[in-house]
Amino acid sequence: MVDPRHFRTVLGSYPTGVSVITSVSDSGERWGLAVGTFTAISLDPPLAGFMPDKRSTSWKQIEKTGAFCVNILAAAQLDMCRRFAARGGDKFDGVSHGHSPGGLPLLDDVLAWVECGIEKVIELGDHVLVVGAVRALERVSDGTPLLFHGGSYHTLNSLD
Ligand SMILES: Cc1cc2nc3c(=O)[nH]c(=O)nc-3n(C[C@H](O)[C@H](O)[C@H](O)COP(=O)(O)O)c2cc1C
Repeated sequence: MVDPRHFRTVLGSYPTGVSVITSVSDSGERWGLAVGTFTAISLDPPLAGFMPDKRSTSWKQIEKTGAFCVNILAAAQLDMCRRFAARGGDKFDGVSHGHSPGGLPLLDDVLAWVECGIEKVIELGDHVLVVGAVRALERVSDGTPLLFHGGSYHTLNSLD
């Protein structure tokens, strides 16, 4: 039996970037959640994914739209991370953003973005592995990313 606290502590040794997964419904409702699980999966064909909690209300809505946009956060966007890690409410209230080529919310000042169509949704334990087929992507700036490690936020320190 693996103790959940121990699991979190040990797995928290592995640092991640932070991104905000966004989408919009046909009626214009915008959804978003902060994740540390975004990852590249395949180059040919180009696939990328993330792992939302089954209980995430935002994911349930994003799934219905059939697409998502990954907004890779810069170190200066900790406030954006906190906003999109909160539960409920209109997370976009007062947030300035543009749109990806497919019309999904694209947050201002991100380092990069990746627009995907939902290719596969695989239930795994209490989370879901969402595989996206990459439709469009762009690097916006070569600034420093926001990192999450050991339960707190960091940014890069170059070693070479
Ligand atoms: C740094 C960080 C990383 C997170 N990574 C994930 C993740 O990979 N998957 C997930 O479901 N939630 C993750 N969360 C929590 C979600 O952001 C949060 O539970 C979600 O926004 C709740 O709102 P919702 O019910 O509207 O989806 C993370 C939160 C933070 C602060």
